[in-house]
Amino acid sequence: MLKNSMLILTLAMSQPVFAASLEVLHWWTAEGEVQSQLILKKALAEKDIKWQSFAITGEGGDSALRVLQMRSLSGTPPDAAQIKGPDIGEWAKVGMLENIDTLINTSNWPNIMPKVVRNTVTFDGNYMAVPINVHRVNWLWLNKKIFKELKLAIPQTWDEFFTVADKIKAAGYLPLALGGTAWQDALIFESMALSILGPEKYIKAFVDFDESVLNSPEMVVVFEKFKGLSAYTDKSIVDKDWYYASQLIATDQAAMQFMGDWAKGMWQAKGKTAMVDYLCVDVPESKGLYSYNIDSFVMFDKYAILPKNNVQILFSEILLSKKFQLEFNLSKGSIPIRNDIDMSNFDQCSQKSYADFKSSTLVPSFTQNLATTSQVQHIMIQIISNYFNDPDAQAEETVRLLSLAIHAMH
Ligand code: BGC
Repeated sequence: MLKNSMLILTLAMSQPVFAASLEVLHWWTAEGEVQSQLILKKALAEKDIKWQSFAITGEGGDSALRVLQMRSLSGTPPDAAQIKGPDIGEWAKVGMLENIDTLINTSNWPNIMPKVVRNTVTFDGNYMAVPINVHRVNWLWLNKKIFKELKLAIPQTWDEFFTVADKIKAAGYLPLALGGTAWQDALIFESMALSILGPEKYIKAFVDFDESVLNSPEMVVVFEKFKGLSAYTDKSIVDKDWYYASQLIATDQAAMQFMGDWAKGMWQAKGKTAMVDYLCVDVPESKGLYSYNIDSFVMFDKYAILPKNNVQILFSEILLSKKFQLEFNLSKGSIPIRNDIDMSNFDQCSQKSYADFKSSTLVPSFTQNLATTSQVQHIMIQIISNYFNDPDAQAEETVRLLSLAIHAMH
């Protein structure tokens, strides 16, 4: 009996005792994302704060945001949540968020962060979220072994892409890794649309919702070309997350994938190395074009009666610290939001992303919540995906529907 009590006591004493905890909603549940999350957990533990993970699986955070809405409506939001782009403004409008300027000193942000990053987290002149990383969305990933074996050149144009895809198919490999979800379909569409339309028209269509491009013959051409990709996917794969598809690249079953660079975080966790096992290249006809996705955390204003909330303050400080920016982004596949981080430890893909982010024409990714609210985005993604998967769906009709749906929601 005494022995048992001693054992329980010893076990209890070996568990860290935290002074406080921080509950954070996010959707980092894939391999790689979990490793990145552990870096956050460790950094918080060093400040005596327990990381309380409120993780909701689901690509692009669609399910996470729904759960968050319910929790908030019932008056029990978490301390922080992964909210990005125009959604930040939606939550700020209803008065649920902490103004970051009141938590920490943000006066040095203009010196350490690019304007586009700061603008993304600004609402009504205030910083309403803490940015943590920049992911590039318009990447094409290539399996190096398959490309070498089949002696294929990197496709620079869409014509070359289709030629390469035919050769891969003929050799018995899967040309395009795709998990068969609406979010992944739309991500491919977004990358293709940016390359075909160019940045000005992309912004007119998907940020400004300008009819002259959104509902135009040019957009019909984009949709038709997009449909051409479906012949290179495995139709028997349905409803699998992006990391299932990335896994096909890692195991040499598929040759190419259009995906954001969070996939790199997963491959890294699987022991795969950039440029050795896989290559990161520009989407065909996209040189100098960069669609960005900036992750950020909002802090819920749960402590209105207290002058300050220390846990949220410490959390914000950790997220912005040089140490965290380096460690986290090395693991996540993204690049730091700070401009004073030594990039020499990053792989070539991140170094390219970092250089391109400075020199390219930047556009916000509409499939990753950076161009519009998640409600509008949700409808757009469904319409794009329905078209892709329905052999009878017509491009002209889809373009009309997309424009109608957006204007009805907006
Ligand atoms: C998020 C990333 C995440 C990815 C896949 C994106 O919307 O910004 O942080 O890794 O979804 O889950």
